Amino acid sequence: MNVLGIETSCDDTSAGIFNGKKLLANVISTQIVHRRFGGVVPELASRAHIQLINPVIEQALEQSGLVKEALNGIAVTYGPGLAGSLLVGLSVAKGLSLSLGVPMAAVNHLEGHIWAASLASSAVEPPFIVLIVSGGHTQLVKVAEWGEYQILGRTQDDAAGEAFDKVAKMLNLGYPGGPVIEKLAREGDAGYVRFPRAYLDKNSDDFSFSGLKTAVLNHIQSIGEMKLHDHLADIACCFQEAVIDVLVEKAIAASGCAGIRRIVLGGGVAMNRALQEHLSNRCRDEGMEAFWPPPELCADNGGMIARTGYFYLQQNRTTPLSVSPNPSLNF
Ligand code: KG4
Ligand code: ZN
Repeated sequence: MNVLGIETSCDDTSAGIFNGKKLLANVISTQIVHRRFGGVVPELASRAHIQLINPVIEQALEQSGLVKEALNGIAVTYGPGLAGSLLVGLSVAKGLSLSLGVPMAAVNHLEGHIWAASLASSAVEPPFIVLIVSGGHTQLVKVAEWGEYQILGRTQDDAAGEAFDKVAKMLNLGYPGGPVIEKLAREGDAGYVRFPRAYLDKNSDDFSFSGLKTAVLNHIQSIGEMKLHDHLADIACCFQEAVIDVLVEKAIAASGCAGIRRIVLGGGVAMNRALQEHLSNRCRDEGMEAFWPPPELCADNGGMIARTGYFYLQQNRTTPLSVSPNPSLNF
């Protein structure tokens, strides 16, 4: 069964094809139109999806060596995300499902991030704890079985990626902030300043990054323009360490409580090498295993949606074509 996955929930237009054994294609077109605005502009995102979606699907078919008629099912993200962006992918998926006479599975974007690492390693099998960290989400989810998810914790304010983006904006580093902060942080002094870590209540698996963001802003204002220039890398490094410490310690604690020895990362922030290394070291100390997807499967991508949709279509769990986008969808 060849399943095409379509992903247009935010600012990446993507299509992937999964055949039950491997990912035959995964094409991602990142919209650059948002860069000069310092964040995603919803109206521009849906317009760009309209322009990009058909060429991206054509490219995915070309990469897979399949013709359209060889597709046996269509998977598509229907939430959470931007309403206008979701609508583009969903409309195209419905059109393909009708014209090809194949079933459609509407997929939760977050579940896509949960499946992503399994496309790269067969060792990623439940039970595991997944830490989904992106520009829009920071969630700890217990995966007892595929399709069986329990949210253990989530952010009470900013998402981890959002914190990277906002701090990058304060430092005039452009958008998206994650990759540039990570690069700069490599040159920084981790002992320069200690920013606060919000562990919240000892029994809580929730996160909070707004206090850290304010602490960085206060620090920037206290040192002034001249000194800021000399300490950009140090601030990036100390901020990144504060985010990573909390993410890793909370993931380890949640896994310990649930009696689960395997932690999986997903989402754009999972591309961060310092996060991967820190998690990997801490898991080794605790006798746990750590996994993360390769970069193209961390980002929003159609491959992970194809994989998730395959799981549902295989069980004949199809979605009626009357389905609408659900921007605030959760588990
Ligand atoms: O999953 P994603 O592509 O889109 C969302 O669903 O949000 O994640 C994008 C987010 C952005 O906030 C970006 O700054 C962050 O992931 N990000 C990173 C890195 N690469 C991307 N954060 C930290 N380190 C990185 N290397
Ligand atoms: Zn995402």
